[in-house]
Amino acid sequence: MHVPVLVNEVLEGLNLSPGGIYVDGTLGLGGHSEAMFQRCPEIEIVLGLDRDSEALEQARRRLAGLGNRIWIIHSNFVDLPEILFAEGIGQVDGILLDIGLSSFQLEKSGRGFSFTRDEPLDMRMDGFETVTAADMVNHLPVTQLTDLIRTYGEERWAKRIAARIDEARKRRPIRTSAELASIVYRAIPKRFHSRRIHPATRTFQALRIAVNKELDNLKLAMQRLPECLKPGGRLCIISFHSLEDRIVKHAIRQDQRLEPLTKKPIMAAPEELEVNPRARSAKLRIARKKTDP
Ligand SMILES: C[S@@+](CC[C@H](N)C(=O)[O-])C[C@H]1O[C@@H](n2cnc3c(N)ncnc32)[C@H](O)[C@@H]1O
Repeated sequence: MHVPVLVNEVLEGLNLSPGGIYVDGTLGLGGHSEAMFQRCPEIEIVLGLDRDSEALEQARRRLAGLGNRIWIIHSNFVDLPEILFAEGIGQVDGILLDIGLSSFQLEKSGRGFSFTRDEPLDMRMDGFETVTAADMVNHLPVTQLTDLIRTYGEERWAKRIAARIDEARKRRPIRTSAELASIVYRAIPKRFHSRRIHPATRTFQALRIAVNKELDNLKLAMQRLPECLKPGGRLCIISFHSLEDRIVKHAIRQDQRLEPLTKKPIMAAPEELEVNPRARSAKLRIARKKTDP
C-alpha cells in the first residue's frame, strides 16, 4: 500500500472548504484524495487525474464509497485546462501534485522501475509514451546517455556508467532492470558506493525521468495550472528531488499570478519519517492565486 506523504501539511495548504472543487493531479492510489474527504466531508468534487491507468483502477476501488463526488480521469495533469473546459468546470479551489512514483508502480507494476527486481526494462508510467528505458539504454549514443544520467540523475559517475552500458550492449541487448542494476553496480568503484542508497538509484531515476518527460511536464504544468485556479485558490506541489523542487520554486517566484506561501519547502516531521521513510526527500511548496494579479 502506498502511504501518502505530508498529508496534514497538504490538507492545511489546500485550505479545504465546504462546497469546494479540488484537483488531485496525481491521484495514484487515492491516499491524498481520501484524506481530503475525511478532513472536509462537504467538499463538492475532487477531480482525480493520473497518467497510469493501472493505478487508477486501484484508486477507483478504494474511493468507490465517494460515488460521483470523485471524478477519476485518465490523463496527464498538463492537460488540466482542457479537462476543466470539457467537464464544464470553470476554475477550482485547489490543486495538488504529488509527483514521482507510487509504491505500487515501484514494487508491483512489473515495469522495471526498481533495481531490486528483475523485470522488463520499460519504466513508462502510461501507454502514451512510446520509448522505453530499454530503448534508451540500448540505442542512445554514449554521449547522450552520459548527459542524461548526469543531468537527470545528478550522478558523478555518469561517464563510467554510460561506457559500461555501451560495452554490455555490444555483447547483447540489456533487457531487464536486474541486468542494468548489476552493470551500474560494477561501474562505480566499490569504495564510492553509498551506504545510504543503492549505487543504481540515480541511474534508474534519470531513465525514469527521461522516459516519462517528467521535468518537461512539470515545467509546462507550472505555466498552465495557475490559470485553472480561482482567485485565492491554492497550489500544493510535492516533489522528491532537487531538480523538481528548483523548477517549482522558480516558477512560483516568477509567476505574477501567484503568491508563495512557503519561503522554504515544508519537509516531513521526524514522526512521519519513522513510519514512512519514503517521505525523507519529499518537499512541499504552496502558493496562492492572487486575487488581483
Ligand atoms: C507519488 S504518486 C501519487 C500518490 C498519491 N498522492 C496517493 O496518495 O496515492 C505519483 C503519481 O503521479 C502520477 N503521475 C506522474 N506524472 C504525472 C503526470 N504528468 N500526469 C498525471 N499523473 C502523473 C504517477 O503515475 C503516480 O501514480
